[in-house]
Amino acid sequence: MKVTVVGAGAVGATVADNIARKELCHELVLLDIKEGIAEGKAMDMMQTSSLLGFDTKITGSTNDYTKTANSDVVVITSGLPRKPGMTREELIGVNAGIVKGVAENILKYSPNTIFVIISNPMDTMTYLALKATGIPKNRIIGMGGALDSSRFKYYLSVALGCSQNDLNATVIGGHGDTTMIPLTRFATLNSNPVSNLLDADTLKKVAADTMVGGATLTGLIGTSAWYAPGAAGMAVVESILRDEKKVITSCVYLEGEYGQSDICLGVPVVIGKNGWEKIIDYKLNEEEQAAFNKSADAVRSMNDVLKTLSI
Ligand code: 2OP
Repeated sequence: MKVTVVGAGAVGATVADNIARKELCHELVLLDIKEGIAEGKAMDMMQTSSLLGFDTKITGSTNDYTKTANSDVVVITSGLPRKPGMTREELIGVNAGIVKGVAENILKYSPNTIFVIISNPMDTMTYLALKATGIPKNRIIGMGGALDSSRFKYYLSVALGCSQNDLNATVIGGHGDTTMIPLTRFATLNSNPVSNLLDADTLKKVAADTMVGGATLTGLIGTSAWYAPGAAGMAVVESILRDEKKVITSCVYLEGEYGQSDICLGVPVVIGKNGWEKIIDYKLNEEEQAAFNKSADAVRSMNDVLKTLSI
């Protein structure tokens, strides 16, 4: 198996590091446009191989797409990260051109690859990658729900004083501070609904903290987070390469599911060797569906911005 991670910034390097540590593939290519950075980070990671006990071979390349040939999975993290006070949406002008160019170049050498898109604004970048390449929808997966759901579990675990690993909780909708929807009604601690354990105000605060989870970290660190985004990207790649068929909320192209069409948005999907294989219907109530529709409206107007860009 071979994986390429495009973008050797903090998120891309962390995705690569996690994939190598778990030996999800034999060959891992890190690609970046900045001279030397991918080569340097790849070499640094390779020097952890004997310490960590993995045998994945990581190589770096400055923009040489021939090195990425025959990748089974390509993770795109390229583009600018957020600065404090910035929304993910403000990155569209710069990142759209970058993501389109990367996806087209990758397909020249890996026509059958599965894309995992992490660049922001992720919902729109996933839609753009799909429209620009025209490849089957199941091979384009936006990584957002895996990350937002892990943040939801973190805030729930703090409120409950429990292990995150005993929690089941998911966030659907867009990957934006106002567009994501933590599905509190479905969240459980070992099958026990969290509404049995926490009062309504606490649950509201957990959901609100989850929604601005990325912005909170950007404020603290001064740039976008990378440990959880990197781990979440790895988890999606793992489910593909090991054909795990895990249900991971991901940004995928909707054609009527959840009442929406011609848009990429976060819904629970089964992820396996063919990319995303099936959408799971959670049977939203009226309030949840209204929130989902509102999220879709916001993402759709962001997608409309693409038409105004000369890319
Ligand atoms: C985040 O939420 C990078 O969008 C990513 O941290």
